Amino acid sequence: MTVDSRESAAALDAADPLAGMRARFVVDDEPIYLAGNSLGRLPCETSARLAQVVADEWGTGLVGSWESWIDLPTHVGDLIAGLIGARPGEVIVTDSTTVNLYKLASAALDARPAARVIVADADDFPTDRFVLEGLARARDLELRLFTADPVAGPKVDALADSLSPDTALLVMSHVDYRSGAIARLAEITERAHAVSALVLWDLSHSVGIVPVDVESAGVDLAVGCTYKYLNAGPGSPAFAYVRRSLQPELRQPIWGWFGQRQQFGMSGSYDPDPGIGGTQTGTPPVLGLVAAQVGAALVAEAGVDAIRTKSTALTAVAVECFDAWLAPLGFTLGSPRDPDRRGGHLTVEHPEAWGLCHALIERSGVVPDYRAPDAIRLGFPPLYTRFVDVWDALDRLRTLAQSGAVPVPPPRRVT
Ligand SMILES: Cc1ncc(COP(=O)(O)O)c(C=O)c1O
Repeated sequence: MTVDSRESAAALDAADPLAGMRARFVVDDEPIYLAGNSLGRLPCETSARLAQVVADEWGTGLVGSWESWIDLPTHVGDLIAGLIGARPGEVIVTDSTTVNLYKLASAALDARPAARVIVADADDFPTDRFVLEGLARARDLELRLFTADPVAGPKVDALADSLSPDTALLVMSHVDYRSGAIARLAEITERAHAVSALVLWDLSHSVGIVPVDVESAGVDLAVGCTYKYLNAGPGSPAFAYVRRSLQPELRQPIWGWFGQRQQFGMSGSYDPDPGIGGTQTGTPPVLGLVAAQVGAALVAEAGVDAIRTKSTALTAVAVECFDAWLAPLGFTLGSPRDPDRRGGHLTVEHPEAWGLCHALIERSGVVPDYRAPDAIRLGFPPLYTRFVDVWDALDRLRTLAQSGAVPVPPPRRVT
């Protein structure tokens, strides 16, 4: 093991160039929070910024503050564009990931009227599949679901077999929400383009943690959450990316005044903004956007490449601890072993996963994230997770599993 004691984990923290970022978050040493891949921590600056926006901009400035608020969706979009290899004017922050997926998928299907097939991953995050099921049913299209290895993710050639000349759209997650496997975004995009399909990537588990270059990969469309690795808070608005060359051609289906070219003209029929602004519909959630601005700026300050370097090292330590401690206790690794193919979280599987998660939270001071039926997801966001956190959390999981007394947990209500 490269890390064979708590002291050697602490030595990695001492040499960590991102160590100072931890103080930029509201953070306690206990419990050890490993669910940042679900809901990121609160940046210190967010509380102050929100208090100022509420007291001054809303409390005093009132409706006049829309002068600055109105551009937040594109300003924050431009900030996120810089994190995914897009250009200014290609990303907007609006609505939820689910709604953005619906809007962009609908627009893509409208742009390919003769093609009758949507291709998607049978094991993708449920909301993505549900949106596509609904679209396929409403338009009488075929939803062709491919299956892939649950740990390694899709192989490019096997996936390409699902694509046919009548494919309108391929929808996939770049980083698998369950295993953390990274899909080969550029190669898959190229294969979809070879049959003239458009491609829509869900970057929810990539943005702010795994480098993405949508421009060099020729990505058409993308969506993603801001409340995970961008730390924008519960229910913060999502982002939507539309390649600039596609913007004049694509029309999203939920027409509203925020998508209108002359929003305050107040007359005439719908004449959408030909740019990324046309992706909007109604009044933007200002407080969520302010939080997303702070969160995305923190990620930009640290740099996605530096974040990725630390992230790979954190999950590598976790894999070493897993092999030494958990594998002998009947756990299996639910994430790729190859660090280049692994995202920001590690999944360990166990038949009593929910009971173990519950006990970890209640008794061991570790907050993981559970996914039915048997996955414990351990998220290690590099901006605030230390190497000693990884060591301690896996050590506590080992101790708990060794005790053999996992209580029957209450039924689950949320994540
Ligand atoms: C891959 C993926 N897509 C979408 C979502 C959620 O979308 P929404 O913010 O619309 O609930 C999640 C949530 O965890 C996710 O993991």
